[in-house]
Amino acid sequence: MIITSANNYEGLDTWLSDKKKVLLVCDDSLKFLDKFTAKLKTVDTTLVRFSDFKPNPIYDSVVKGVRLYLDEGCDSIMAVGGGSAIDVAKTIKLYSNLPGNGEDGSWLKADVIPNTIPFLAMPTTAGTGSEATRYAVIYYEGAKQSITSESFIPDTVLMDPDALKTLPLYQKKATMCDALCHAIESYWSVNSTDESKEYSKEAIRLVVDNMDGYLNNTEEGRINMLRAANTAGKAINITQTTAGHAMCYKITSLFGCAHGHAAILCDRILYPWMIDNTDKCIDPRGEDYLTQTLNDIGLALGAEDAKSGTRKLQDIFDKLQLEIPAADEEQYEELKTSVNPVRLKNHPIALDEETINKLYHEVLT
Ligand SMILES: [Fe+2]
Repeated sequence: MIITSANNYEGLDTWLSDKKKVLLVCDDSLKFLDKFTAKLKTVDTTLVRFSDFKPNPIYDSVVKGVRLYLDEGCDSIMAVGGGSAIDVAKTIKLYSNLPGNGEDGSWLKADVIPNTIPFLAMPTTAGTGSEATRYAVIYYEGAKQSITSESFIPDTVLMDPDALKTLPLYQKKATMCDALCHAIESYWSVNSTDESKEYSKEAIRLVVDNMDGYLNNTEEGRINMLRAANTAGKAINITQTTAGHAMCYKITSLFGCAHGHAAILCDRILYPWMIDNTDKCIDPRGEDYLTQTLNDIGLALGAEDAKSGTRKLQDIFDKLQLEIPAADEEQYEELKTSVNPVRLKNHPIALDEETINKLYHEVLT
């Protein structure tokens, strides 16, 4: 269920009405709940705050969250924040009914026992779509752990456009690009379905139509960007992301660009390259299907065909005035071997190391 400002967030009263104690997982976003204080007072619900985690959250923080959830006798979970807060809340939900105390990373290897703990998420950025996906990322002993479970997708999403009001402009641009890249990559993914493509199309249109309003901070722009990120999240929940995301992680770690910034750096180059290389299609639906798909993406972007779609994507990038980092030869060496081959399997055109290297030379200066 999605709760929005329509009817003064009345769905929130309903969601809270049968909850006694809610574990509130939040970063410094707690202030965004102030407007709901009156509502919270009218229901007999206690909030137990958990904020003992950082961006790129670690497993040990999740273990602490589970302990608090159990010690306090909570019956539900609410996440307020960006991707990290939502990922922490997801994994707390997932591990809260597992045996043992999670010592030495044991829950990472344990068999999941799906549970029905009520779980509401309120995203305070419009980008990751984490509130709509079966993926969460946490770190254990420095290593990234990608956790996948259908059972931790929030049952309810609270979209409050006011939460985006004070986001710094760069963060707004980067998270918006993340949502756009999720939608585009999901569309061309080999795992796409009719349903995922509908989500992608809708998300691309929402981004294109609301970009100006969002960056100028209108309420309509903000609520529609939350919808765009959520809808793009639903699309990648079905398909996962592809080469653009596989290539963007190292750009973030080498040059410090925000994730969505790095993603659009790559997708704006990948899209035209794909149009010229449909003969290397590995999507079982075939080359003609892929050509049509690339065309459809152009149409969703508001262009007439694939080629003008690539110009439209480049125009969006140019308009945002996002920096293009400069790499040296050593960094190109590191970049070309950094790409996760599992992600590349979702990409409809085969990419070898030489091609990836060539693409990185176009992505960066
Ligand atoms: Fe992303």
